[in-house]
Amino acid sequence: MCGIVGYIGHRDAFPILIKGLKRLEYRGYDSAGVALLNGSLEIYKKQGKVSALEESIEGSPLKTTVGMGHTRWATHGEPNDTNAHPHYSHSTDYAIIHNGIIENYGSLKKELGKKGYKFRSDTDTEVLITFIEDIINEYDCSLEEGVRIALSKVVGAYAIVVMSTKDETKLVAARKGSPLVIGVGQGEYFLASDATPIIEYTNEVVYLNDEEVAVLTREGLEIKDFEALSQTPYIHTLDLALESIEKSGYEHFMLKEIFEQPNSIADCMRGRLKAADGHLVLGGIRDYTNALINAEKIIFVACGTSWHSCLVAEYIIEELCRIPVEVEYASEFRYRNPIINEGDIVFAVSQSGETADTLAAMELAKSKGAILFGIVNVVGSSIARTSHEGAYLHAGPEIGVASTKAFTAQLVVLTMIALKMSHLRGTIAERRYHEMLVDLERIPDKVATVLKQAKKVEEIAYIFKEAHNFLYLGRGLNFPVALEGALKLKEISYIHAEGYPAAEMKHGPIALIDENMPVVVIATRDKSYDKIVSNIQEVKARKGKVIAVVTEGDALIPKMADYIIEVPDTKDAFMPMVSVIPLQLLSYYIAVMRGCNVDQPRNLAKSVTVE
Ligand code: G6P
Repeated sequence: MCGIVGYIGHRDAFPILIKGLKRLEYRGYDSAGVALLNGSLEIYKKQGKVSALEESIEGSPLKTTVGMGHTRWATHGEPNDTNAHPHYSHSTDYAIIHNGIIENYGSLKKELGKKGYKFRSDTDTEVLITFIEDIINEYDCSLEEGVRIALSKVVGAYAIVVMSTKDETKLVAARKGSPLVIGVGQGEYFLASDATPIIEYTNEVVYLNDEEVAVLTREGLEIKDFEALSQTPYIHTLDLALESIEKSGYEHFMLKEIFEQPNSIADCMRGRLKAADGHLVLGGIRDYTNALINAEKIIFVACGTSWHSCLVAEYIIEELCRIPVEVEYASEFRYRNPIINEGDIVFAVSQSGETADTLAAMELAKSKGAILFGIVNVVGSSIARTSHEGAYLHAGPEIGVASTKAFTAQLVVLTMIALKMSHLRGTIAERRYHEMLVDLERIPDKVATVLKQAKKVEEIAYIFKEAHNFLYLGRGLNFPVALEGALKLKEISYIHAEGYPAAEMKHGPIALIDENMPVVVIATRDKSYDKIVSNIQEVKARKGKVIAVVTEGDALIPKMADYIIEVPDTKDAFMPMVSVIPLQLLSYYIAVMRGCNVDQPRNLAKSVTVE
């Protein structure tokens, strides 16, 4: 949801900013821009991708060692050159980049309008920088003081960076609700929405906290809170390899991330699971084991793909731990009056750890006395820091907008938590527990086996690449997989797809089935196998085209289905980790064949930091 990058130091700023923006493009790609400061404050911006911005710059950009850049996912104002960031203030002495929304920008704009200020764009961001300028003029204060005073009067969520011709030696940054990471180098500082633009220069970072203002000069970093009290920056050392944020020979990040899954799942288990010794330890939840033992209800809050992994967890926890589980869309949860009692457990599940709706749902639950567990991929993210406890996915950076390896890692972490809880609560027989640990440890190999069928999935994709609709059916634990398969296809190929519980099909979607309707059925051998076989027959009776994901060695379904993809057998609880893989591949190949931009699908952003 908009990417921010900044630099002050001794190197040429422009290439650093452009490279950084390319790394952050997954956050939004409606338009891009940079501001460079050296004697004058020059802004270059363009609708479209960062590459369009580069092409649009005639001659060399201003040579300087201080600047900032932005890649936008539009909220206020259509994506065009004028609404692209950075924005000048009224006088053009100040410039800003902004990720988030200023909710009271309408009233601020009206007040500033009365004072004679004029605006060039439709954005809330331009209002904010002009407001900052007005305050600096009125109070005759420094840039950072102007930012601080302005933000204390602003309602909304944001991460901003501002710079000014009045003081070329600094960048001022602030955040509330949107992430901002500061990279600490030797006589140089970097700023970015996440660490990926920074990592090739330094692995020392400071995560700016909410309601903090940072002043970056070549000489040092100063952080104050919104009350102007000095804060001591805490420097984290990042363990992030540069290769993990590059395509490493794959055509797309999404394909790389799909194929990384045997490793990312193994990484997620590393040090936590050792079946031979009966070892299952999740360090992040250790301090709250009593809460897990005594829990009377568990609530999951999440969005998108992460919400689907929670649905899988619901089945597993209820089955193994016998605790009632509710799975909530974070955006809905926060706007009703949910029943949360002191000591209830709320799991917030998120790849990015920055999803605004999920964060807001957590704040609500926290205010009612719930214990918050964050299950996130991005280390140091807002959700991780808002949680009481939690577990990282350790899946490595996920850059393709459509989530793949984070989904399977979520399934693994949530399953490990379910197993741990059931063991602690004594709701699982010792033998079953050990058998499950053994089988869970084999999942990376099973996923690798499925990936060997990529060619076959590609052939099926070729047959259906022109379809206008797809139906995905599953039962039990494979129902969330059907939802996830349909979501993947919609996101990246723009084909309309619906996921449905297979038995519900007869209450509506069956009307859609004819000889043109591909129906993907996840029909692995589990306790609802006989039922799903009947559902396949219902589809075939109406001439639908069945693509079935089946357990290796299934002799029955291949006789009915038009196309089959086999996956290795595993315990029912783990099947989604395996059965989702062909669906990820299917959507990927169809999208590529349709000429879609797989890593940056239209209208989407990887990290949605606005409501
Ligand atoms: C966006 C992304 C999805 C993701 C969802 C939740 O919509 O495009 O891929 O599943 O946000 O994101 P989170 O980071 O909270 O898992």
